[in-house]
Amino acid sequence: MIICSCNVISDYDIRRTVDELRQKNPRLTITTDLIFKSLGRQMKCGTCILGITKVIEEQAAQLS
Ligand code: FES
Repeated sequence: MIICSCNVISDYDIRRTVDELRQKNPRLTITTDLIFKSLGRQMKCGTCILGITKVIEEQAAQLS
């Protein structure tokens, strides 16, 4: 499912990025800015912030 329509970022992209970042540094605080940066994208309208945050939290909960 597309979470960020401006950048065509899906929930899968976010989950995969969270996993990769956590593998590199388990203590890292993962933010929406970090997700955009890791995917080589920039936030545009910001409508997706809550959706991205929700996916980050869901994925982080699965890993803990
Ligand atoms: S929907 Fe993500 S920046 Fe616009």
